[in-house]
Amino acid sequence: MKTYNTHASLSISGKVILVTGAYGLIGQTIASAFLEQGAFVILADIDKSKQNMLESEISKKFPASHFLFQTLDIADKESCQQTMIAIIQKFGRLDVLINNAGLDAKFDQESSGKVNHSRFENYPIDLLRKAVEINLTGTILITQYACKQMIKQQSGNIINVASTYSIVSPNQNLYDFRDGNQNFKPVDYVASKSFVPNFTRYLATFYAREGIRCNAIVPHGIYNNHEEPFLQNFARLSPLGRMCDREELIGPFTFLASDASGYMTGSLLTVDGGWTAW
Ligand SMILES: NC(=O)c1ccc[n+]([C@@H]2O[C@H](COP(=O)([O-])OP(=O)(O)OC[C@H]3O[C@@H](n4cnc5c(N)ncnc54)[C@H](O)[C@@H]3O)[C@@H](O)[C@H]2O)c1
Repeated sequence: MKTYNTHASLSISGKVILVTGAYGLIGQTIASAFLEQGAFVILADIDKSKQNMLESEISKKFPASHFLFQTLDIADKESCQQTMIAIIQKFGRLDVLINNAGLDAKFDQESSGKVNHSRFENYPIDLLRKAVEINLTGTILITQYACKQMIKQQSGNIINVASTYSIVSPNQNLYDFRDGNQNFKPVDYVASKSFVPNFTRYLATFYAREGIRCNAIVPHGIYNNHEEPFLQNFARLSPLGRMCDREELIGPFTFLASDASGYMTGSLLTVDGGWTAW
């Protein structure tokens, strides 16, 4: 039997990792955690307004040689190309792509009032087009550019961020706060995230013989100062009875980014507190 060092295989130290949507809730969490574990991280996002604050926080903790802040619109060809050029100029290669950027109509306090939670039959089709443009087309576009580089290297690792709503329907009872206004998780999110599991299998099989793996994480309900009525509904409907703490995603992402998951490709790693188990 081959000798196998579990601890060493879980290390992501020295890996070059691109995190899209890196200024958001999940992106910030995993980008910082990867840096703490000795990886080289590209933090890429479309939202320039958050960059300065995050960059000054990261600069205090990590050497500049370990990170790159990059403005990226995953739905724009030139922006994807420029991002890959910047990565290769600074780090010389790309080991892992985390397809995390996306649009999501959320129910936390930050988002309330900003998103459209109307019924299916009234849902504006332009919002669907926008979600498809970013969550589906944009994810494919940035992946194409990353794959061109990974093919040259004959190695690469792609981690797509799916959602429980990529595999099951939203339970709309979660969004009924018994205040006379039933909210709905919109169809744009479900439609544009449903493609992720099969896109993951498509890439996994397409590139299996070229040294490129592809898996997906399936998170559900990350806590971000949600209000009490939402938390109560969530607790009732979730087997574990609570939302996910953002830090609980670090282990699963690290595992998929590391060589410990070397025989995994085309898989979905579900991190949902049992949401899809009943
Ligand atoms: N938060 C959750 O509870 C949850 C649950 C399941 C799945 N997810 C998935 O996790 C991923 C990240 O979610 P989050 O909660 O961190 O969301 P978030 O809104 O906090 O972050 C998303 C980030 O993506 C960026 N972005 C949007 N459009 C972009 C574009 N065209 N190009 C580059 N960046 C762009 C935004 O600026 C933002 O910083 C999403 O794919 C989401 O579907 C989230």
